[in-house]
Amino acid sequence: MKFFADTADLDDIRELAATGLLDGVTTNPSLIAKSGRDFMEVTREICGITDGPVSAEVVALDHETMMKEAEVLRKIADNVCIKVPLTVDGLKTCKALTDDGTMVNVTLCFSANQALLAAKAGATFVSPFVGRHDDNGTDGMDLIADIRLIYDNYDFGTQILVASVRHVVHVLESARIGADVMTAPPKVIMALFKHVLTDKGIEGFLKDWETTGQSIL
Ligand code: E4P
Repeated sequence: MKFFADTADLDDIRELAATGLLDGVTTNPSLIAKSGRDFMEVTREICGITDGPVSAEVVALDHETMMKEAEVLRKIADNVCIKVPLTVDGLKTCKALTDDGTMVNVTLCFSANQALLAAKAGATFVSPFVGRHDDNGTDGMDLIADIRLIYDNYDFGTQILVASVRHVVHVLESARIGADVMTAPPKVIMALFKHVLTDKGIEGFLKDWETTGQSIL
């Protein structure tokens, strides 16, 4: 499963990239606003940190303007992935861009039927939002399982990108289901490394090592 960071914070992206486990980045207009940075500038910098896909989202609602925005965004770097909303115009834009060889992430997917449409439109990635489903009283992971089943039934190449990930259990369940990618806030990715028994084990080993009086270097 690929790991994308869901953030526009450059320090966090650099820290994750240094682990060697970062496969890409997703942003959205809210994350750009939170960064307080210029959209084009911060996207260019993110594209310089990772070679993986960097999702940059259009803000127009009509196909024609989405295409114009996509044209500007895809010039930023070769690894820009155009993010479009799951609407009629968004999917028209998705089809046009992917037919032309551009990566597209279809975002704001909340149903398996919507994911089916995104695959038929040739999406590179579809982003079902699990956390927002949970917030709304339905299990977001059921949606991921349904999409996995449907995509496998028809051998769709669209990658399931689990989005709106809120905690480490979402990551575990995504991997169990066989999602292709998950995007999570940096703090969730860093939490994956942690286990209290790992810390306790290191502490015990080091205490015993000290009694030997030896050193490796
Ligand atoms: C995905 O690409 C979105 O940026 C993101 O995962 C949304 O997450 P949120 O529901 O925590 O805002």
